[in-house]
Order: sequence, then C-alpha cells, then structure tokens
Amino acid sequence: MKSKVYVVRHPLVQHKLTLMRKKTTSVTEFRELVGEVAMLMAYEVTKDLPLTKMKIQTPMEKMMSPVLQGEKMVLVPILRAGMGLLDGMLRIFPSARVAHIGIYRDHKTLEPVEYYFKASKTLRGRDLILLDPMLATGNSAIAATDRLKGAHPRSIRFMCLVSAPEGVRAFQKAHPDIPIYTAAIDRKLNAHGYILPGLGDAGDRIFGTI
Ligand code: URA
Repeated sequence: MKSKVYVVRHPLVQHKLTLMRKKTTSVTEFRELVGEVAMLMAYEVTKDLPLTKMKIQTPMEKMMSPVLQGEKMVLVPILRAGMGLLDGMLRIFPSARVAHIGIYRDHKTLEPVEYYFKASKTLRGRDLILLDPMLATGNSAIAATDRLKGAHPRSIRFMCLVSAPEGVRAFQKAHPDIPIYTAAIDRKLNAHGYILPGLGDAGDRIFGTI
C-alpha cells in the first residue's frame, strides 16, 4: 500500500510557490513567502486532526464545543531548510512543541547523515508534523521518519513544498503509512539530487547563503 500524497492546489499556495521559484525573488521575499505558504498549508495538513468536546460558557449560555484532542502537537523541522516552515506553522499552532532533527546529505553519496536530534521525552502518543521544503531523493525525510517512529508518536505527517517523483516514490515505499502534503510534484531530480524545475537550494534561499 502506498502512502497518500496530498497536493495542495489552493490558488494562493500555487501563486506564492511560483514567486518562490523565480530566480529573481530576493531572500527577504523568499522568507516571507515560505512562511505564508506554511500557514496556508497548515490548514490542509491538519484537516483530519481528531477533535473532542469541551464544556464552555459563552456570554449567552453553556455549550459543548470542539477543541483539538490529545497532547500538544510537535513540529519537527529537518535542519536547516525545515526551519523556514517553522515560523509559519507556529503562527497557526502557537503552543506546539518543536523537535529539531539535523540531517545533511552527503554530496557524493546523497545519503543522509544525522548530526543532531533534540526532542522532548514526550513524543509518545503525540501528533508530529515533519517539515522540509524539498522532498528530493527522500533520503532525509525517510531517515527522519525512521527516527521519529522509534519515539512512538500517535501520528506523523510529512509536509513539504516541492517534491520530486523519485522522492515521493522512495518515501512511499519506506513509509507507506505516512501521508505526504506537498504544493507541487515536479518533473525530476538532476544528477546532483536537485529538483527540476524546483526552486534551487531552499536552505540557501531562506538563509541567504547563496
Ligand atoms: N534540496 C534543495 O534545497 N533543493 C533541491 O532541489 C533538492 C534538495
């Protein structure tokens, strides 16, 4: 069974993604856009979070009203580009916890190397959203998901902006139970593991290290 892939086709997401792709978009604009797209996508990524009912008092009367059920969710940016999505997500989920995972791609082998992992001890039973703007080979997302599964969360969702078909297939094969939310599935990977047409190196564009 393949994991589900949800392509977020909302016109605002698509418009902003086009601006992000443009070579002439500045670091300042790119940063703003990545935050805005994260906020817009948050709505879709969390559409099936379970609800429970809470007894509240309105100015008029008492009622049972829906609230998110369970422990605080945990946002997991893959360093460093995943940090670009974090601020936007925190605007929507201000009380979310954050776990950082540092994985870099060895430029020769394209294999993932974990160099940092810091999370609270309480991932068990929580809903996690793994963040990385680019799903390229899929190696980093697969390694991060392997790691997170070991912490026994209630759920994991993977959120990215641009995916390569190769990465989608690899992730689906490794983690058929984890849904992928992306704004686009592009044409292909090049020989260096970059997505075509893509948007270049997301980390460089967010942090201005071009
Ligand atoms: N990571 C990026 O930042 N861009 C790509 O195209 C692929 C991986």
